Amino acid sequence: MKPYEILLKNNKQWAEAKTANDPDYFERLSRLQTPEFLWIGCSDSRVPANEITGTQPGEIFVHRNVANLVINTDVNLLSVLDYAVNHLKIKHVIVCGHYGCGGVRAATTNHDFKAVLNMWLRNIKDVYRTHRPELDAITDNTKKENRLTELNVQEQVFNLAKTSTIQRAWKHENRPDLHGWVYDLKDGIIKPVFEMPAGTPIDGVYKYGDL
Ligand code: CO
Repeated sequence: MKPYEILLKNNKQWAEAKTANDPDYFERLSRLQTPEFLWIGCSDSRVPANEITGTQPGEIFVHRNVANLVINTDVNLLSVLDYAVNHLKIKHVIVCGHYGCGGVRAATTNHDFKAVLNMWLRNIKDVYRTHRPELDAITDNTKKENRLTELNVQEQVFNLAKTSTIQRAWKHENRPDLHGWVYDLKDGIIKPVFEMPAGTPIDGVYKYGDL
């Protein structure tokens, strides 16, 4: 059996197990998508949103990219955000990074990863520069990287708050709350590091007055 065929076989077993005790499981799910959460996480295969939060299909709307970045020209992410906020009416957006993130580590090196990755990782280098005094003061490399991971999550939460999508929902519906979390690959525990409840004041230059 080829490796990808194993996935299909597992899928059949999973579907059978789901319906064994609950024959209407898929029928019910197919009619209903009302998640309360939008998850913006890293693409890293070791950080599966549903599994580490003990949630089921239908409970979390998920977007993942390298190093969980919120970039204001990323049409993919902004479409997911728009749909989740304005149509699914989600109540919480969670940006979840993780310690040991390859993207964060790569951004701390001076290696040329070539065009597209350089472009992507540049956003993390900008986070480093913004917080340089704090990060430069940390001598242990792992600790420095871990702190950059936390600050990166915090900056991505700020980036969410800068969007008119979030500001409009805050103004008219007092939701969603924004959360910055970091997952630890070593013990499986998620640490909340930053949050912006709906309506949190932001730097005036980013504020839209006529939403
Ligand atoms: Co990662």
